[in-house]
Amino acid sequence: MKQIDKVHFDTKDKLYKYMNIKLTGLIGDEPDWLANLSNASALFELLIDDINWVGFYLMKNGQLKLGPFQGKPACVDIAVGKGVCGTAVSTKTVQLVKNVHDFPGHIACDSASNSEIVLPIIVNDTVVAVLDIDSPTLNRFDEEDQAGLERIISTLVKYVEWSDIH
Ligand code: SME
Repeated sequence: MKQIDKVHFDTKDKLYKYMNIKLTGLIGDEPDWLANLSNASALFELLIDDINWVGFYLMKNGQLKLGPFQGKPACVDIAVGKGVCGTAVSTKTVQLVKNVHDFPGHIACDSASNSEIVLPIIVNDTVVAVLDIDSPTLNRFDEEDQAGLERIISTLVKYVEWSDIH
């Protein structure tokens, strides 16, 4: 494979377009979900500025279990409805949290985190995982990040073998 390097863009739209092309290149022909989510989290860590944690929590036995990520060691189990991640599952909606200290029940895995975005990954109307990104900067994520990351989620839905995860 070709090495992927950090690139700086003047708009978030360009960044997420680039990220989506690189993600498709990494996972488009690879059937192994663990390899794909591992490479995806490494790609996101490389390309997204000003973050301190990025990775996946996977639905297993009715709760979220820590999956491939980049950042400090994190809590392993999160119940549906708990924290930002569990709320993304129970509501099936993106959680765009400008200040985590204002989010009731926020679970602090890294005390450096001040803002967070969590996107549910939904296959056949069922949440199979979430993508969680934390930043040390308040207000780090906005609607443009959400739109770009929703396109990234579509790529993950398309190419990852979610049914292999148990
Ligand atoms: N903050 C998350 C927990 C996971 S860590 O951020 C890695 C939450 O409240 O669900």
